This record gives sequence, C-alpha cells and structure tokens, in this order.
Amino acid sequence: MTKEPNLSDLESRLDKSSLPRHVAVIMDGNGRWAQRQGLPRVRGHEAGAESVRAVVRTCRRLGVEALTLYAFSEENWARPKAEVAALWKLLGRFLKQERAEMLAQGIRLNAIGSLHKLPTATAQALRKVMADTAGGRQMVLTLALSYGGRQELTEAAHRLCRRVAAGQLRPEDVDEAAVAASLYTHDLPDVDFLIRTSGELRVSNFLLWQMAYAEFYFTELHFPDFREAALVEALTEYARRQRRFGQTGQQVEEAARGR
Ligand code: FPP
Repeated sequence: MTKEPNLSDLESRLDKSSLPRHVAVIMDGNGRWAQRQGLPRVRGHEAGAESVRAVVRTCRRLGVEALTLYAFSEENWARPKAEVAALWKLLGRFLKQERAEMLAQGIRLNAIGSLHKLPTATAQALRKVMADTAGGRQMVLTLALSYGGRQELTEAAHRLCRRVAAGQLRPEDVDEAAVAASLYTHDLPDVDFLIRTSGELRVSNFLLWQMAYAEFYFTELHFPDFREAALVEALTEYARRQRRFGQTGQQVEEAARGR
C-alpha cells in the first residue's frame, strides 16, 4: 500500500524560493461541510476558523509576506440574521484568542472592506488588535470584511475624482499606480496566488484589480478540511507554475537565467 505523504514529506518537496509573496483565499464550503455531517452551518464556520489558524500559521512559518482571507463578502449580509451574527461573534473570539500569537509572530493584522458596517463590538475588537499588532513586520494578515471588489474600485474612483475636483491631481495623472494607491490594498503587493476551496470556479467579486496576474488554484476540499498539508500542496503547485505576465515562456526563461 502506498503511504499518504505527511506534512514534512510534502514540505521537503516544496521549493521555498518560489513561494508567492501574496496569497489570497476564498474560504468556501463551511456550510456544506457542516450539512454533510448533519450539523448546523455555524459548526462549519467554527471548523473553518480552525483552518484559518492553520493557514495563518503555515504561511507565516514558510515566509509568505501577505495573506488575505475573504471572511465576509458584501453579499453575505443577505444570509439569515442568526448566521451573520454567529460569524461576527466567531471573528470576535478569533481576534481575542489569536492576538498574543500574532504579536509573538510579528503578524500585522489589517482589514479591508466597508468596515463601518460591522457590529460595534467587532469593529472595536478589530481596531484594537490592528493597533496592537501595527509593528508586526513578518507577515500582514488582511481580513476582507463586508468586502466587494467592485465597491472597492468604485470608492477608489470617487477618491480620485475628489482629488481631481480639488485641483490636487490632473485627469492625465490618473494612471494604474494612482488607482492602485487609492484601493484598500494600497500597502500590499498584488495577489500572486488565489486559492478557492469547495470546488466553485468563481472569483466572487474578490480583489478584482489585485488579481490581474494571479495564479488560480481550485480544490474540491471544503474549507474546514483545508489544513496545513492541503496548503503546502497548493503552494507546491504554485511553485511549479511559470508566471509569464504576458511574455513568452522563452523570454521568462531567458530572464531567469540572466538573473
Ligand atoms: C463560505 O462558506 C464562508 C464564509 C461566508 C465565512 C468564512 C468564515 C470563516 C472561515 C470563519 C471565521 C473567519 C475568521 C477570520 C475567524 P459558505 O458558508 O458559503 O459555505 P457553503 O457554500 O457550503 O454554504
């Protein structure tokens, strides 16, 4: 019988010099995971929070610079009230439990989205952990909360229009760098690697601008089953890909040889 590879086998095969700088995750399938076992959906989110811990720890340990998690979309407000409330409560608990480890590990907590819509207690807890971890330099963990990519781009357009109207910027100065600097993610690198769990093949309004050249990875695993080994497998697949940014494979290889 062939042996299932364990985490250290998997990690030994991972080329650590080809890791993505910025990993983004659409954490899908918590509800289905729970329903499959006859459990309430909220139990799926709780199990998903364990996967969040595993993904954060593994990214930090391997040296990923930025990790962005789609924790609550703008559209998620339409879910049953009790599920929405449970998600915010879970996030509050996560922040309280993880604060010390984030500090110890040099992780800076960041949040993007319409944060003014968050319940007051969640917003306060979030602000506190963000302020406490502001000096973290090893990795930035961004939670997308009440987030939508089109909403982010629309807000960026408003910001730029206001600067033009105020005479601070000429219309011809609105270039890609100016747009990128007006996004919630102005201080993050572009997304290199997008992971979506649970077999859905969509981007669901996530980081639309930032993923222009990202590599996509889809897995059938529901998010609560997406733990260390699954992440290392995904990163191994990323390391094998050739990122061309519009160039030919030959050009990319020549540039790499010249490095
Ligand atoms: C999608 O699964 C998941 C969410 C809407 C919430 C994600 C939240 C967590 C992983 C847990 C808490 C987060 C943090 C940061 C502690 P779904 O409910 O849409 O699953 P389904 O498609 O199977 O119904």
